[in-house]
Amino acid sequence: MAKKIVNKVTIVGCGPGSKKFITGYAMQHIINAEVLIGSRRLLSLFPDADADTYVLSNNYKLLITRIVSLSKKKKKVVVLVSGDPGLFSYSKLIVDKLGIEKCEVIPGISSVQLAFARIGRTWNDACFMSLHGRLGNLAAVVKKISNNDKVAVLTDNANNVKLIAKKLLETGVKERKIFVCENLSLEKERIREFDVSSILKIRVSDLNVIIFLDEE
Ligand SMILES: C[S@@+](CC[C@H](N)C(=O)[O-])C[C@H]1O[C@@H](n2cnc3c(N)ncnc32)[C@H](O)[C@@H]1O
Repeated sequence: MAKKIVNKVTIVGCGPGSKKFITGYAMQHIINAEVLIGSRRLLSLFPDADADTYVLSNNYKLLITRIVSLSKKKKKVVVLVSGDPGLFSYSKLIVDKLGIEKCEVIPGISSVQLAFARIGRTWNDACFMSLHGRLGNLAAVVKKISNNDKVAVLTDNANNVKLIAKKLLETGVKERKIFVCENLSLEKERIREFDVSSILKIRVSDLNVIIFLDEE
């Protein structure tokens, strides 16, 4: 598969959501793209882009086949990913399949970076987990939170913080500060702090980063 790629594919990190968090370098690649591939949400950020656009498919095989075929015809194929490509994104699948020599990865500001900035904590000593589309990770997430002082978890509507909190209480972990960071950089951004029991009663937006801290 990798041998058939003609032109390099650029994977661009688009930041947490608002255009103001997209780096100048990332923007340069997006403006010059001949083909843009991304989710509907990311593509809608660039309505004036002078490029053919393709909505990102959840079908990975189809996605790779499409990227390979487009890169044979067009020089500047750009795949848009949210946040930073290095954190729970399609980027890994694409680079693993095509090889880094056939890709350029442009970093972006991650939702997790912005969440830590908003709560005024560093993230050099944090652990990162994702429940986004992966309920199978729940036990591992609970174990990680039980054993570490600072854990950031990406969750979604179905695989959410309430499930984590219930399991934490079942395993006797009651003392954690929980920061719920919703819609970061967007109009409805909201940052709230809870303890493990009180989080069972709240509603959380689908787009969120949850930070668990074991601190005084
Ligand atoms: C597939 S992951 C991609 C993460 C991305 N690579 C990053 O660096 O932020 C998607 C998850 O990121 C989190 N996320 C992305 N954008 C967000 C935002 N603006 N506010 C809060 N969470 C966000 C949510 O947990 C979402 O379910």
